[in-house]
Amino acid sequence: MHALAQAQPNIALVKYWGKRNSTLNLPAVGSLSVTLESLWTRTRVELDPALRTDELTLDGRAARQREIDRVSALLERLRRLAGSAVHARVESANNFPTAAGLASSASGFAALAVAGSGAYGLALPPAELSRIARESSGSAARSIFGGFVEMEAGSADDGHDALARPLLDASAWPLAVLIAITSTREKEVGSTDGMTHTAQTSPYYQAWVAGSPVELQAARSAVLARDFDALAVVSERSCLRMHALASSADPGLIYWNGATVEALHTVRALRRGGTPCFFTVDAGPQVKVVCLPSATGRVAATLREVPGVVEVMQSTLGQGARLIAAEHAPARVSA
Ligand code: DP6
Repeated sequence: MHALAQAQPNIALVKYWGKRNSTLNLPAVGSLSVTLESLWTRTRVELDPALRTDELTLDGRAARQREIDRVSALLERLRRLAGSAVHARVESANNFPTAAGLASSASGFAALAVAGSGAYGLALPPAELSRIARESSGSAARSIFGGFVEMEAGSADDGHDALARPLLDASAWPLAVLIAITSTREKEVGSTDGMTHTAQTSPYYQAWVAGSPVELQAARSAVLARDFDALAVVSERSCLRMHALASSADPGLIYWNGATVEALHTVRALRRGGTPCFFTVDAGPQVKVVCLPSATGRVAATLREVPGVVEVMQSTLGQGARLIAAEHAPARVSA
């Protein structure tokens, strides 16, 4: 029994930063994202009764133990649902560099949830796949869906109301996303550790959590009204507040380099000049720029001129995670 699934990364416009329950991986704040089209993770899960543990390769290399443990934890939850004890061989590949700062964990765990549930013969609805992906990585819950996606923080202890749901189809408001790569070095502090450290040490953390529902509401309204300028304002505000928060931890987290800052100024100058674009930055130095399709060429060319920008990648908005192929216990064909 095997299954192959594809999922795309998403870019948060209203940021998730902080957990209300680390064990269940429940977010402390809601978030809103766009799922990309041209970048993907493809993951194949093959069940093999001869295996004594799960096996994992990432982009063709044997995975580190820490990576295997995270994948096994998700598979274990699926095994419990399926009543199976069979281990799996997992092969996962991205068509984008991990150093692109594209939260490969989002597309990775979304693809794993879909391929894994296919391989174990579970027909799970998207909301359930999203919950399973969320338990491994908060942002992965959003990559189950396409287009514009909202993730509720919820308040229930068991997390049943911490759900991602689709807000608007990709085709309903076609936007473009550019990714300006400013460094290919692996980041020093990942999102999970970064947000835990921030929650424990920043004096501003409570204000961040308290302000989140208003930000989410503003972004949701902007998306439903297809109001680009309003979405630009709330997205840049959420990004800058997240980084202000992370840098107020003790010791402070600085995810940007000089080129990151130059690119932010460049995007602001473009918008002042009438080009419909805005920026956002995740837990790394790369700058993501959302723009109207008509502005894509101009924005990409301008970003390429920014000193320190080494590459600019481009995508439209795309669909959610899906099964590409699956095969279940084939009936024996007798000769
Ligand atoms: C800055 O989803 O990677 O990209 O739940 O600990 O796996 P874990 O964190 P993760 O955090 C993403 C943080 C962010 C903002 C966002 O995507 O909302």
